[in-house]
Amino acid sequence: MKIQVFDSSHDVAEALADRVACAIRQQPALVLGLPTGRTPIRTYERLRRMHADLQFDATRLTTFNLDEFAGIDRSHPGSFRAFMEAQLFAPLRLRPDQIHFLDGMAADADAECARYEAAIEAAGGIDLQIVGIGANGHIGFNEPADTLQARTHRVTLADSTRRDNAGLFGGDAAQVPREALSMGMGTILKARALALIATGERKAPCIEQAMRGPVTTRLPASFLQLHPNVELYLDRAAASRL
Ligand code: PGA
Repeated sequence: MKIQVFDSSHDVAEALADRVACAIRQQPALVLGLPTGRTPIRTYERLRRMHADLQFDATRLTTFNLDEFAGIDRSHPGSFRAFMEAQLFAPLRLRPDQIHFLDGMAADADAECARYEAAIEAAGGIDLQIVGIGANGHIGFNEPADTLQARTHRVTLADSTRRDNAGLFGGDAAQVPREALSMGMGTILKARALALIATGERKAPCIEQAMRGPVTTRLPASFLQLHPNVELYLDRAAASRL
């Protein structure tokens, strides 16, 4: 595990954006796994600037996002798809065929999850998967539980996760869907490289437990200890308990 600690969340974003741009320059047809959430916003901002400055070419990139809410359409402003369109897909001018996303409106969730797994396989697997971490230790929408599902599946969101996502729904947690579709921990761990980004003191306890504690389904992020190629991008606050 390569732990990198930076002075500020700004420096974290710069380092991770540089890492991604470098990976795309080395491998233009990179298969990149992407997270949503507040933490990657600055990284996406820097990637937009770097792309505008012609520091990398995104025309051969393929993306897969970790998760999506169930029961809302991609055009809903609270959807992760809408978030990604605004943050990255439109500014980088990605074509629809470059973008892979779970469809939260799919009538048959199991079939949709199977389709997503097959699409990842068909793309040759994910080269670099960026992940955030929930304050409860979730990765993607793999919430703390007695058991975890390995592959892409439908999940019930924890109340704390719905509160954390209220910002996308006008600040009202009651409006946040109760369910979502998410890559499973096994799907995530199959990526050839993982980059975890976490900033702020609120993430310090789960970062410490996830990296130093036992591997447990009660803290899905602890499964990252099983992966041979994980990079952590932390600010001082998130790393304060390590
Ligand atoms: P956050 O979400 O970046 O908004 O803290 C992270 C996550 O839940 O994965």
